Amino acid sequence: MRAIAVERGSEGPTVIERPRPEPADGEALLRTLRVGVDGTDHEVIGGSHGGFPEGEDHMVLGHEAVAVVEDPNGTDLSAGEVVVPTVRRPPAAGANGYFERGEPDMAPDGEYVERGIVGDHGYMAEYFTSPPEYLVAFPEDMWEFGFLTEPVSISEKAFEHAYASRSAFDWSPESALVLGNRSLGLMTLAMLEFGVDSDRSFAEHDFERTYCLGRRERPDPTVDIIEEVGATYVNSNETPLETVSEDFEAMDFVYEATGYAPHAFETVEALAPNGVGALLGIPDSWEFEVDGGRVHHELVLHNKALVGIVNSHVEHFEGAIDTLTELPEWLLDDLVTTVATPEDAKPAFEYGHDQIKAVVEFDRL
Ligand code: NAP
Ligand code: BGC
Ligand code: ZN
Repeated sequence: MRAIAVERGSEGPTVIERPRPEPADGEALLRTLRVGVDGTDHEVIGGSHGGFPEGEDHMVLGHEAVAVVEDPNGTDLSAGEVVVPTVRRPPAAGANGYFERGEPDMAPDGEYVERGIVGDHGYMAEYFTSPPEYLVAFPEDMWEFGFLTEPVSISEKAFEHAYASRSAFDWSPESALVLGNRSLGLMTLAMLEFGVDSDRSFAEHDFERTYCLGRRERPDPTVDIIEEVGATYVNSNETPLETVSEDFEAMDFVYEATGYAPHAFETVEALAPNGVGALLGIPDSWEFEVDGGRVHHELVLHNKALVGIVNSHVEHFEGAIDTLTELPEWLLDDLVTTVATPEDAKPAFEYGHDQIKAVVEFDRL
């Protein structure tokens, strides 16, 4: 079968041939429909994040997938069912407490592998196998957008953790700022603007004013989407993050999805008293000057919080599916700018400004 992989020493992804996997006992065989590409895939391809499966010279890419059950192989799945797989799996040493508790997303380095990212092959192949506990049923009539479940699940987790960090007092947020205007940033902005996170912790508060910061000049398709969802575009060439609170307003919630390391610290300045920032970017080592005293002072004297967020678990996937069914279809259509084939997957990895979300389509339902 065809698969798209990174090979040691290669410049970019290549199409390789691999044997179709045989499901082990307790695993089902899945036929891949679509696999999305995000900023992390570019970081993996560039070598700044993730790692090859032990002893192998290549790794199949892809962690945002939607697939159909080809062979349930004795599991309680049904042939033909549409499912989305989670990303983390137990390490070679076997399942640990994080997996047993259903919270593999909270496991530290070394206590998990991630399919298509860290130490395990991903989903960019015609078939893959998985135990059923890592698969979540997805509505058939929306299968084309199933691969968006994984990224939306990350924001479900971010909202849950950010909200929990403010739950000890009466928090009434009104303003939210998303940093980054590609796929993760734009989907999260829409969730905030349309108030559609599944546990309703944020939606209940109904953010009255939402903003998205990017570094692009108009005309630009992502700026059009920001304005169509009803948010305000902040051009960081005119208003850097440090001065957002003066030029616009101090924010109750900031969601960082740029991977630009200075934003982690500048977020503290952009937050309103009692505000919370969720950091999602995964930068490589990066040295720069920071007024650490100022950051410390602001965090303490204004009860601000920063939470780092990575990965998600099955409940976040279930929440993400509810959320996806509530987002307007025009938005999902506008976000998916590139549908590539496995024979010619190159366009899915091109990173032009016209590309927001790219997907490789292996098969259709
Ligand atoms: P992406 O496609 O690389 O998008 C990053 C966006 O940030 C782009 O729109 C980029 O602008 C913008 N940006 C970068 N530096 C900027 C700066 N200095 N000022 C203003 N805007 C800036 O990545 P993504 O898929 O949306 O994901 C965003 C980040 O989150 C990545 O680092 C990714 O690895 C990470 N991520 C983390 C998790 C997690 O579990 N923690 C999950 C998914 C993704 P241009 O397009 O104009 O260059
Ligand atoms: C994925 C997460 C993963 C993280 C770190 C993200 O792009 O969506 O599932 O945990 O990268 O590798
Ligand atoms: Zn991702």
